[in-house]
Amino acid sequence: MSLEVDEHREYLSDHPRLAAFRSAIEEVVKPDHVVLDLGCGTGILGLLACRAGAKRVYAIDEGGMIELARAICGANGFQDRVRFIKDVSSRVELPERVDVVLADQIGQFGFEAGLFEYFSDARRRFLKPGGVTIPRRLDLYVCPVEFEGMWKQVDFWNSAPAGFDFQPARSLAANTGYPVKFNPEHLLGTPEVAWSVDPSSCDGVSLNMRAQLNVTRPGILHGIGGWFVAQLSPHVTMSNSPLVAQRINRRNVFFPLDRPIVVQKDDHVFVSMRILPTQVVVSWNVEVWRTDPYDPTHTKKTKLAQFSHSTLNGMLISREDLQRTKPTSIPTLNLWGQARLTVLTLCDGLRPLADIEREVLRQHPDLFPSLNEAATFVAEVVTRYAR
Ligand SMILES: C[S@@+](CC[C@H](N)C(=O)[O-])C[C@H]1O[C@@H](n2cnc3c(N)ncnc32)[C@H](O)[C@@H]1O
Repeated sequence: MSLEVDEHREYLSDHPRLAAFRSAIEEVVKPDHVVLDLGCGTGILGLLACRAGAKRVYAIDEGGMIELARAICGANGFQDRVRFIKDVSSRVELPERVDVVLADQIGQFGFEAGLFEYFSDARRRFLKPGGVTIPRRLDLYVCPVEFEGMWKQVDFWNSAPAGFDFQPARSLAANTGYPVKFNPEHLLGTPEVAWSVDPSSCDGVSLNMRAQLNVTRPGILHGIGGWFVAQLSPHVTMSNSPLVAQRINRRNVFFPLDRPIVVQKDDHVFVSMRILPTQVVVSWNVEVWRTDPYDPTHTKKTKLAQFSHSTLNGMLISREDLQRTKPTSIPTLNLWGQARLTVLTLCDGLRPLADIEREVLRQHPDLFPSLNEAATFVAEVVTRYAR
């Protein structure tokens, strides 16, 4: 079985997630509704919509999972109500507008899986006026966290493995957001909403968020934790928060600080974040403040530390690639680019695939040792760029 299918087994065995979507769909989808299941995977959300009475479901997925979704739909007798479309949702045209758009493109901190981009496109092009999306609201939470194990992972690069200096990697490691699962014991304070939005109303170009976090117990501040609460329907929420009893099986994100800071109860942690969702870039600035306990006015405050991190500084970009993206550079096709161009040019609406494969082999003998290899390459190009 492909690992992709096994990933969907995990989605389906996450009972709190499934229960939340099921309740929300039952609350929102009415008989005679037309529904869009955006990023359908196994087709589960569309099936739940059918069971709730939807008269028609458009199920879109860009991947090969769509074939399995078709088979599963047939096995459940809903093939007359679900129409499958294999493509990226933003490239699809639908024959009618829909009452409800469903998706679980939420990621770990609410923004990484493309929800804003795909939902705002879906609202504009697919949703009827007055139609609804599931989820309808997203709250992004941040919290000061103590997590020595994760911080040590960042500081590993200072440890001179095999006696060599690996410090150049340390700065990349400190400018990376790590998927982790927090427990309530990791939290040093009360989580706060840093950003709250209807994901379909936001183009998601840039999110700027701010939060003032109160430290509620003494400890060591290693970083900032991030997670989401999604409002799926008027009465149903779904979350990966470590404080939620029906927490879904999805990790949170740990944003490390360059060095750990000893904190006391009533210290304040100011967090400002800038997120560019489509590029999956997160910048986090953190200030830690302490109020003078002997000051009767409680106005004297001392800044204990200040940090500035960004995943932009955690990216691995080679000088060769950097050079290639300079506006002054003059690009030319390499051998693989030339082979791709050959395939695209041969897709002229006249030639059968077998002819294209033979011609690609003839023109690029250095790249393909046999017809089999050429055919695999051609298949990769045509499944992506041809009809
Ligand atoms: C997180 S899985 C969720 C699958 C299913 N909806 C569920 O709830 O179990 C996301 C699926 O959406 C697909 N996908 C993501 N973005 C998409 C888009 N914009 N258009 C079409 N498919 C998309 C992926 O290929 C993947 O199968």
